[in-house]
Amino acid sequence: MQHLLKPDDFSRHDESDDAQFYLTPRIVAHIDEKAQAIVTDIIRRYTQADTSILDLMSSCYSHLPVDIRYKEVIGLGMNKEELEVNTQLTSFVVQDLNKRPALPFADATFEAVLNTVSVQYLIQPIEVFREVSRVLKPGGVSIVSFSDRMFPTKAVRIWHEGDNEEHIALVRQYYVQAGGFQRVRIERHIAPSSTWFWRGHDPVFTVIGFRTA
Ligand SMILES: C[S@@+](CC[C@H](N)C(=O)[O-])C[C@H]1O[C@@H](n2cnc3c(N)ncnc32)[C@H](O)[C@@H]1O
Repeated sequence: MQHLLKPDDFSRHDESDDAQFYLTPRIVAHIDEKAQAIVTDIIRRYTQADTSILDLMSSCYSHLPVDIRYKEVIGLGMNKEELEVNTQLTSFVVQDLNKRPALPFADATFEAVLNTVSVQYLIQPIEVFREVSRVLKPGGVSIVSFSDRMFPTKAVRIWHEGDNEEHIALVRQYYVQAGGFQRVRIERHIAPSSTWFWRGHDPVFTVIGFRTA
């Protein structure tokens, strides 16, 4: 079932300029090591060597498999220093997608577009997903992964209101409303040993959109 998205769904506790929030570099991982390895494994399964990758909302880690040689990996994020220390990027762009959702790339440039643990910060997600579909080659993949962690003041209201399953449904809806994707696949990676006092690892949920061929 689709939720009728309203502008207020994308309000945030902190409505100040994102450039301010991301001014200070955070040279950290945003999910634990096991969750990072899960993200890497997902990227490995959906990408190939010698292809062009766009890492949207990128920082110091892109979680790409180190044994796959990509043709190029372009990062787009908010903080120049974070992007400069990311050794997997071949180039990067600093751009605020909440001010300018249009991606500075030609149509059909990339085989894969990644968005890792960041989709909850987009205030115009449909516009951004439409752009992702535009810059993907026919048959390309968009890999949106997230966990249950966030910068709460910058996450949109609808994300705060939903649980993990509702987040999956919301991201799926972004693909459907954006158009240009022929199908969507969902992966859930939750540690079986998680209890209320010990989690095996941060959960990873991935919603993969396949660009219409
Ligand atoms: C939690 S970090 C995740 C970084 C990286 N994708 C990872 O997997 O570690 C969130 C990232 O989203 C990016 N971001 C947040 N708001 C953004 C915006 N308005 N436009 C572009 N990027 C944004 C920031 O650059 C920040 O590094």
